[in-house]
Amino acid sequence: MSAILWVVFPYVCLTIFVVGHYWRYRYDKFGWTTRSSQLYEDRLLRWGSPLFHFGILAVFLGHVMGLGIPKSWTEAVGISEGLYHFLAVSIGAIAGFGTVVGLAILIYRRRTVGPVFSATTRMDKVMYLFLATVIVLGLVNTVAANIFGHYDYRDGVSVWFRGIFRFDLHPDLMAAAPLSFQLHGLVAMALFALWPFTRLVHVFSAPIGYLTRPYIVYRSRDAQVGTHSPRRGWDDRP
Ligand code: HEM
Repeated sequence: MSAILWVVFPYVCLTIFVVGHYWRYRYDKFGWTTRSSQLYEDRLLRWGSPLFHFGILAVFLGHVMGLGIPKSWTEAVGISEGLYHFLAVSIGAIAGFGTVVGLAILIYRRRTVGPVFSATTRMDKVMYLFLATVIVLGLVNTVAANIFGHYDYRDGVSVWFRGIFRFDLHPDLMAAAPLSFQLHGLVAMALFALWPFTRLVHVFSAPIGYLTRPYIVYRSRDAQVGTHSPRRGWDDRP
């Protein structure tokens, strides 16, 4: 059973994640969007969106550090177990809390603002459910398990996670992890499988073209409306 949960299921989800993004780009390039609802409502979005996005960015960087960097490396550069634990719990809790509050505002907005609710698809709702569950379980891990428990996820969950990408499999480590860490990992994997079919694809878009594209020049039809006096050769009418 643990091989299915901690080896087969992750590989299936991660394969869907990769192949799904390729498929989506090939067949739905022009549907690759956040489907922004800013035009419908701005006041709640102005608070909810930055709170969520800055929070989740910090959470992501925390995961890169906590899951990606082996414990021996951080110890080698002088970050003791105690210091690491303190940083992870304090920064992680603030980031996690900001993310949860931001997401709560965004979900409240989706439900209560008529036009935003009308623009919400069934897939959006499924995605929000998985996203919220992963985030709340993550916060439970950080706050409850780290403060009240003694589980060092860098000796367990992190070794399992890195092993997936190095084909050095450790289902036993996840089978021995506390339930909230197991559920967090499983729901996160399921979210990765859903990802390519949702608005979350926007995470992999950046407006890089903006850096090099020519300006869009807005010209008045009436030469007298502008603030500058017409220059010979540039403005076609005197
Ligand atoms: C399989 C992939 C993942 C694994 C193995 C994993 C593992 C963990 C672990 C071990 C913690 C506890 C960190 C600590 O106590 O310092 C945690 C916290 C957290 N996780 Fe994940 N996670 C995964 C994916 C995700 C995803 C996809 C999201 C959100 C979309 C997420 C959101 C969070 C949040 C909000 C916290 C609490 C705040 C924080 O400490 O940064 N996780 N995760």
